[in-house]
Amino acid sequence: MPIIYTPEQRIFTIHTAHSTYQMQADALGHLLHLYYGARSEGSMDYLLTYADRGFSGNPNAAGRDRTYSLDALPQEFPTQGTGDYRSPALTVRDANGVFGCRLLYRSHEIIPGKYALPGLPAVYAEAEDGAETLRIELEDARLGLAVTLCYGVLPSLDIITRSAVVRNRGTAAVTVEKLQSACLDYVCGDFDLVSFPGRYAMERQFDRRPLGRGAAVIGSRRGYSSHQYNPFVILADRGTTESAGRCWAMQLVWSGGFRAEAERDQLEQTRLLMGLGEEQFSYPLQPGQSLTAPEVILSFSAQGFERLSHQLHRCLRRHVCRGKYRDARRPVLLNSWEASYFDFTGESILRLAEEAKALGVELLVMDDGWFGDRCDDNRALGDWTANEQKLGGSLGALVEKVCALGLKFGIWMEPEMVNEDSDLYRSHPDWALTIPGRPPIRSRNQLVLDFSRREVRDEIYARICRVLDQGSIEYLKWDVNRSIAEVYSHTTGDQGKVLYDYMLGVYEVLERLCTRYPDLLIEGCSGGGGRFDAGMLYYCPQIWCSDNTDAIDRLRIQYGSSFGYPASAIGAHVSACPNHQTGRTTPLSTRAVVAAAGTFGYELDPAKLSEAERAEIRRQIETFREDAELVQQGLYYRLSDPETAPCCAWAFVAEDGTRAIISAVLQEKHANMPAVYVRPRGLTPGAFYRDRASGRVYPADALMDTGLPLPLTLGQYDSVVWRLERIEGTGRP
Ligand code: GLA
Repeated sequence: MPIIYTPEQRIFTIHTAHSTYQMQADALGHLLHLYYGARSEGSMDYLLTYADRGFSGNPNAAGRDRTYSLDALPQEFPTQGTGDYRSPALTVRDANGVFGCRLLYRSHEIIPGKYALPGLPAVYAEAEDGAETLRIELEDARLGLAVTLCYGVLPSLDIITRSAVVRNRGTAAVTVEKLQSACLDYVCGDFDLVSFPGRYAMERQFDRRPLGRGAAVIGSRRGYSSHQYNPFVILADRGTTESAGRCWAMQLVWSGGFRAEAERDQLEQTRLLMGLGEEQFSYPLQPGQSLTAPEVILSFSAQGFERLSHQLHRCLRRHVCRGKYRDARRPVLLNSWEASYFDFTGESILRLAEEAKALGVELLVMDDGWFGDRCDDNRALGDWTANEQKLGGSLGALVEKVCALGLKFGIWMEPEMVNEDSDLYRSHPDWALTIPGRPPIRSRNQLVLDFSRREVRDEIYARICRVLDQGSIEYLKWDVNRSIAEVYSHTTGDQGKVLYDYMLGVYEVLERLCTRYPDLLIEGCSGGGGRFDAGMLYYCPQIWCSDNTDAIDRLRIQYGSSFGYPASAIGAHVSACPNHQTGRTTPLSTRAVVAAAGTFGYELDPAKLSEAERAEIRRQIETFREDAELVQQGLYYRLSDPETAPCCAWAFVAEDGTRAIISAVLQEKHANMPAVYVRPRGLTPGAFYRDRASGRVYPADALMDTGLPLPLTLGQYDSVVWRLERIEGTGRP
């Protein structure tokens, strides 16, 4: 049993294959955090220390004992108002505006299977998977407030999930001013915080900084998870590397604003928190009402970042992503955006489709510009009816023609947005999030629709369905192209609820679509990767990773993304050169090698390529089809850091070690350059591997020890791929 309760000491222990998590409801009823680390038996309450720390308050129930203070003790769910001056997980005000909440343990239950969170995306797993749930009830009797801490465990995956449900069981309203999903308190340690900051077209750059005294805070106040910060952080021992050292991940299953904080306190203890953003958040709960914190996925590795990533990848791939395309190979697509932007007709789309088909592409995506009078990005969002003049007929007729070529058809929409220059806005100006009496902040000349309102959601859902029902449309690119600036819903007095309710509204519409169109492949997008998070992956198994399609910039973007997210989630395309974002020219082969570390597709007009290039693309697609299963299901290894190494290399290795694809891109070229070696990991020790192209046999141990030399003939931005197959009967058992 992964979850064990020891009644004598009131200790809760959660075991996974390689980790143990432990907490204790102590004699005063406080739920203290004891341990999260390498798998261990026994009670870890010996880790707690007690001393009169001075200016650290003592709870009344401790009597005259000045050594008991919540300011110093590690806790599971610290609240504001207990004499703990570190950052809290929960801040509450009562009906009179008085701050303060003190939670005591009341009861708990352990049940088979993994809990679900109604209305919210969450990890799913059944009892047959070995999953279990622990629910711990805490209560503040004065407020009449109950908090249920939810813990889910997927033991074989080394995954623990957490969430919290705050319920008003009292007779007066309370207001939640801050709500975090999980807290991890560390009694000692010297840590680095790893996060993935970025910007539009340069998302999720690896960032590692040592934690000093004080707090390191990242988050998004943009209403969405954002390009600028990703809701995924790692706390690591100073010396942790890819393959050695302790590290802990927190990954939020949420696509709205968020906050993550690592605080090193006066006693050199560290607190890691993650949950909802605090700003413009103030959530009133009437008696009987509740509020759920989005889920956080926790994982621990004692063997470096690589193991941590593998654990998260497995969890996201198999227990967050859903639907037909969770396991099925994703169609190789060609997207019209960089091929023609807004400048297309039904006829040119059909031509593009014919070209695509001849190359072996499986899905044609018609991007922005097919609806209303959308001739540029200043108008028509919300008017989701096809521009039949532009398309030269109905959408249904175009879909049919494309499908008749033997291709699937996909379409772009941006359902959460509206332009002022649209029929939708003209008839419902109050449906946009704008503040009365204040001219709205525009971004890409568009406004955000108020998805916290049912009538808005219902209408947009109906419009999406009307589009999808035009024909056999098997793919939807769901885009979001601005941040939320004005938080004002025209129907509620409680503006502090709007951002949270908005995101639940988006999830509701996505859920309805997934139910009605179970075979629809939805690709998430937000100006590239501005909403690239585990929450979206629950509805969209792949997300357009970045509007930056430059293969060399992509190395860093995909490197950073790979820490938290599997390759199957990473939308990646080959585009034309010179690249539209950077002006750089890279070999077509390298562009394909980089895109093949994701969902793989094209975003160019094949008619503008030479016959030789088209022939190369045909071969690329054939090769990707052969590699796809390993890319989608294999273990991902980062073999070098593109920021510091002259060569960026990575590998996909089958879980059973039978196959490996090792890819490397030379980023820098110098005269008389020293040879660059790529050292793969994850091969079967003692085994021999044959390189498919050259037939050459390599010993796995030497490969993993010294590596493979890159051909010295490689030029800057050239790439090389080794496809290794294990020779049967070799390898140490
Ligand atoms: C966003 C997306 C692009 C494209 C455009 C269309 O920027 O990230 O891929 O769809 O919108 O306007």
